Amino acid sequence: MSRPPNSPTDAAARPLSTLDPGPAVGASDGAEGLALIKPAVRAQSAYTLSAPAARRKLNQNESPWDVPPTLKREVLAAAERAAWHRYPDFAPPELLAALAEHYGWTAEGVLVGNGSNELIQATLATTLETGDVVVAPAPTFSLYRLLTGVLGGRYRPVPLGPDFAYDVDALIEAAARERARVVVLNSPNNPTGSALPEGAVERLLEETGALVVCDEAYQEFGGPTALPLLRGSSRVVVLRTFSKALGMAGLRFGLALAHPAVARELAKGKLPYNVNVVTLAAAAAALRHRDELAERVRRVVEQRARLTARLAALPALAVYPSAANFVLIRCLRHPAREVFRRLLDEYGILVRDVSASSELAQCLRISVGTAEDVDAVADALERITAEER
Ligand SMILES: Cc1ncc(COP(=O)(O)O)c(C=O)c1O
Repeated sequence: MSRPPNSPTDAAARPLSTLDPGPAVGASDGAEGLALIKPAVRAQSAYTLSAPAARRKLNQNESPWDVPPTLKREVLAAAERAAWHRYPDFAPPELLAALAEHYGWTAEGVLVGNGSNELIQATLATTLETGDVVVAPAPTFSLYRLLTGVLGGRYRPVPLGPDFAYDVDALIEAAARERARVVVLNSPNNPTGSALPEGAVERLLEETGALVVCDEAYQEFGGPTALPLLRGSSRVVVLRTFSKALGMAGLRFGLALAHPAVARELAKGKLPYNVNVVTLAAAAAALRHRDELAERVRRVVEQRARLTARLAALPALAVYPSAANFVLIRCLRHPAREVFRRLLDEYGILVRDVSASSELAQCLRISVGTAEDVDAVADALERITAEER
C-alpha cells in the first residue's frame, strides 16, 4: 500500500535535503550572505561571554543561592498541571495584578518579558527611528549600545564622573544637545555599581524631552527607584528583572512598568507568547515567597560590605563604592588580566574581566557571593597582590 508522500513516517525516514552539504562552511567565506546584513549591525560587537567552569562563580551577578526547594516544588507542580500543548497566556491577569501590587503600579502598565533584556529591546524597537539618538552613561551595560546600533539609532555615551559617579549635568546637556529620543540609565550601574543621586531622573524629565528608561536590574540591592515617578510622567519606563535579587536568571523573567498608554505601544515590540508556562508559574511563586527572597538580598548586602572592606584594605587595589550585588576593583600594581587568570587557575574563582575598555582599564568586576565566596576571593586577592612585581 502506498502512503501519501508527506506522511510522518516518510518525513522521518528521508533527509530534509539530498544536497551534499560539502565540507561544511569551508567552501564559502560567507561574503554573499554578509553583504545582506546591515552595516550598522556588522559594526557592533556581539554580546558574548566566555565562562569557563569554576568552583566559585562570581562573574554574572547572579544569586549565590538557588531558589528555595519549596518554591521549586510549587513551580514544578504548577508546570505539571499546565497544558504544554497550549500556548501560554499573553500575561495571566492574576500575575499582572500581583506584579502591580508588588511594584506599586497599575496592572495595565505592566509588561512581562522573557528576561528584562527583551523589554530593553522592545522599548528601543518601538521608540527609535533610524538616526535617533540614545544617550547613556559610560561605562554601562553593553546591550544598550548593541541594540541601538542594530535598530539603526545613534548611541551617545556620556562618561561617568570621578569614581564612576553619575554626571547628571553632563547627561542632561548631551540629551538636550543631541535631542535624544531615549536616555537609558542603569542604576545601580553595571559594571561600576554607581547609584543615581536622588532627584536625577526628575531633572532628566524636566530638562529634556526624552523617554527616560530606568533599568533597575539591581535596585533591590541599593539606590533610589524611579517607580514613584510613573504616576507623574508618561516618559518614564522602569525595567525590573527576576534574574538578580529574586535568583531566577535561568528562568528568564523581567518586566517593564510604564504609563498604560505607553505600555500598550511597547507591547507591540515584543514577540507574542514570550514567557513560557513554567516561567509564568515561577514568577508567581517568587512573589508568594518574596519575604524569604528579600532576606537573601539582605545577606548579599551584608557580604558586599565585607567584601568592600576587605578589598579596600589591600594597597594594590582601588575599590569603587557599589549599591549593587557586585563590586568593581582596579588593579594598581598587577595587570588585571593576570589577576583574573590567577584567580581562576590557582583558586578556582571566576570573576568578570572588564578591563578591555579604556574607561575600565585594569578593572575586574566581582559578584557578591556567600560569606565563603567573599573570604575566598578576598584571601586570594590578598595573596596575589602581595607579591612583588
Ligand atoms: C543592567 C542590566 N540589565 C538587565 C540585565 C539582564 O536582565 P535579564 O536577565 O532580566 O534579561 C542585566 C544582566 O546582567 C544587567 O546587568
